[in-house]
Amino acid sequence: MHQQGLKAIEALVTRPREPYGSIEVRPLTPIIGAEIEGIDLSGELSNQQFSEVHRAFLEHQILVFRDQQLSAEDHKRFGRRFGKLHVHPLQAMREGDNERLEVRASKNSKFVAGEDWHTDVTCDEEPPLGSMLYITETPQIGSGGDTLFANMYLAYDMLSDAMKAFLEGLTAVHDGAVPWVGAYGYKPDQPFAKTEHPVVIRHPETGRKVLFVNRGFTSHIVQLSRPESAAVLEMLYRVIETNPLITCRVRWTPNTLVFWDNRCTQHHALWDYYPLARSGHRVSIIGERPSA
Ligand code: SIN
Repeated sequence: MHQQGLKAIEALVTRPREPYGSIEVRPLTPIIGAEIEGIDLSGELSNQQFSEVHRAFLEHQILVFRDQQLSAEDHKRFGRRFGKLHVHPLQAMREGDNERLEVRASKNSKFVAGEDWHTDVTCDEEPPLGSMLYITETPQIGSGGDTLFANMYLAYDMLSDAMKAFLEGLTAVHDGAVPWVGAYGYKPDQPFAKTEHPVVIRHPETGRKVLFVNRGFTSHIVQLSRPESAAVLEMLYRVIETNPLITCRVRWTPNTLVFWDNRCTQHHALWDYYPLARSGHRVSIIGERPSA
């Protein structure tokens, strides 16, 4: 690993941590993810609770809330504290509540949502700032169906200065057809969204740089030839896939809600429980257009 990456990790691990007053925050790993205790998401959050959940979200990127009894309205109310709810293009094609995406896998599934490393819906001009997945049913035998998350600030920090300089100013196309037509086989009436974003963005709230390409949606880097683009993207994806140090793993129990910062993380849902079932719903919050 590049020396600078190690320095960035050390700085993160040894940073001063301000205490929380209204919630308990238990880190999952020293650098990504936290379990949040002492809060019931089915009611209105006080201003202090909201601001501390928001601070924990920026500090840890992935928040895990266990044993929550949430109606669809509770789930959406919590989402709306952070902004306007997003309508997922696949949910828009189905009947019913289109602000909650159904996430379900069973014996009959041909694929499961989010089976490879990705950031949600980066084909949109304004991709979600975050998603809240509420899982109510987990595989009934043993464990399985965990979700892996990666810290994309650190994925950027781990690159050499030469690679960072090379990526500066490059843009990439993010195309909804890559996962939903290419991988899942949907045949939409209208083409899915397709947008160009900088390869390296700045997180709009923390100001930190983030590596912003993902296997799920990125089709190519605009300024490179196709073979060059494929090779560079593959190398960048390998930064996550070969560095467990910058990842954490969430083991779901029924009625767990996980809220991830979609601007600075990627995730990968593990489908290791076929033919058993796992299900829940996801609410996402619209973010702003990513910029360098
Ligand atoms: C997703 O990509 O939103 C699905 C994640 C999961 O099911 O764990």
